[in-house]
Amino acid sequence: MQSGISIKKSSVTFDQFSIEELAKKYSTPLFVFSEQRLIDNYKTFERSFKQNYKNIDIHYSIKTNYELDILKKLKSLGSKGEAASALEVIFAQKAKFSPSDIILDGPAWTDEDITYCIKKGIQTLNVDSIDELERVNKIAKRLKKKVKVSFRIFPEIKISVLKSFIEGYIAKFGIPLSQAISAYKTAQKMSHVIPVSISTHIGSMITDPGFYEQAISRLIELAANLKSELKIDIEEINLGGGFGIQSLNYYSLQNAILEKAGISKYSKAASIEEFGKRITETFKKKLAQHKLPGLKLILEPGRFLVSDSGILITKVVAVKDKWIFIDGGINLIPESIFFIRRGFIVANKCKLPVTHKYNIAGPTLNTADVLAVDQKMPKMEVGDIVVVLDAGAYSLSRSNQFTILRPDVLLINDKQKIKFLRRKEKPEEILNKLL
Ligand SMILES: Cc1ncc(COP(=O)(O)O)c(C=O)c1O
Repeated sequence: MQSGISIKKSSVTFDQFSIEELAKKYSTPLFVFSEQRLIDNYKTFERSFKQNYKNIDIHYSIKTNYELDILKKLKSLGSKGEAASALEVIFAQKAKFSPSDIILDGPAWTDEDITYCIKKGIQTLNVDSIDELERVNKIAKRLKKKVKVSFRIFPEIKISVLKSFIEGYIAKFGIPLSQAISAYKTAQKMSHVIPVSISTHIGSMITDPGFYEQAISRLIELAANLKSELKIDIEEINLGGGFGIQSLNYYSLQNAILEKAGISKYSKAASIEEFGKRITETFKKKLAQHKLPGLKLILEPGRFLVSDSGILITKVVAVKDKWIFIDGGINLIPESIFFIRRGFIVANKCKLPVTHKYNIAGPTLNTADVLAVDQKMPKMEVGDIVVVLDAGAYSLSRSNQFTILRPDVLLINDKQKIKFLRRKEKPEEILNKLL
C-alpha cells in the first residue's frame, strides 16, 4: 500500500481513506496523520544513512511535532530525541523516551530548564554560548553532577547564493567556528562539564547536501585541532537536522528575486538517499584524512520524518475575486510562505483542469494569513475541500488559537484504524483559563 496522499481515478486518498469522506464524517479543519507514512519515512531515512556508516544515532527533533503517538512510534522504531526545552523532555518522557537518550539544544535555556535536565540525567547539553556554559557548570556543581557538553558551532559557511538578511538572523545560534577552540578551552578548565562532542545545525529545508559536506569538513578539522592542541578526544559529531523534502518547495528571498529576473523559481531538495550517501562518504573520508577513529555521527531530523505524514483538510468558506478563504490558516500552519511553499489538492475537483490562479488565505484577521499566492486551481466555490499537504511538521506544535480554536486531530494507525490524537478545543476550556 502506498502510504500518505495519493490521487486515484477520481478521488484523493490518505492511506486508505477518501479525503471527501473524512471531511464529511468529521468537521473541518481537520489534521490527519498517517502512522504508516511516519514508519516509511523513518526507515528510509535510517537506511539512507546507515547503509554506508554504522555508527549513527538518530535523535528526532521533538519540537517538530510532539503528538504522543508520533513520539511513541518513533521511539519504538529506535529513535532517540533532541529537545530545546525541559517541556519537550517532559513530553518525550510521557512517550517513554529516557532522558539519557535526549540531547538538549538551544540558545535560551532558563536555569529551570538546565536544572530539570541535569537532574533527569540528560545525555548531552549542546551549549550555545559561554554564558550558557557557565550556568550549566554552576548548576551541575550545585547538583554534584558532572555533565557531558557539546558546543553548537556556527560553521560560517554561506548557505545562500545571495546574502539575505535571514543569514544574519541565523548567526544568533551557536559559537562561530573561529572562536571554537577558545570555547572548548574554557570548558576544559571547568570542574563539572565534560566536552565530548561538536554540534551544528545549519538550517531547515536544506536542499543541497554540499552544505553538509562543507560543515563536516570544518567540524572534523576542528575535532583534529582539539585533539592536537587541547588533548580533547571528541567522541561525536552532531550534524543537526535540516534535511530538505522533495514534496516541499523551498522559497527564499533570493528565489523570489531570481524569479523576478526570470532565472529560477524554487530549489528542489536532493533525495534523502543522496543526502545519506554524500554525508556519510564525506564523513568517512574526512575522518580518515585527519586520522581520527570512527566517531559517532548524530543526526537530528525533524521535518523529514513528519512533514508528509500529516495533512490539513480544510473547506473553502469564502471566495472573493482572486482570493479564496479556507477554514485553517497560519493559526494551524504558522510557517511563512516566504520560506516554504506547500502543495494543495482540491479533493472534490481533483480531475478538473486547473484553469484559475488564486491566493489562498486563512480565516484569521492577520494580514500575513496567506498560505499561497497565484496557486493554480480549478474554478473554486464555497464548500470545496482543499487539502494542505506537508502539514505534519512545525504545525500543531506551533499552532495558536487567535480567533479560532484548535481542531480535531486524527491518526490513521498502521492497521488502518482511525483514532483521535486531540479533540477539538471548546470555548469553555479557554474561558476557564482566563482569570
Ligand atoms: C538543533 C536542531 N536540530 C534539529 C532541528 C530539526 O530541523 P529539521 O526539522 O529541519 O530537520 C532543528 C530545527 O530547528 C534544530 O534547531
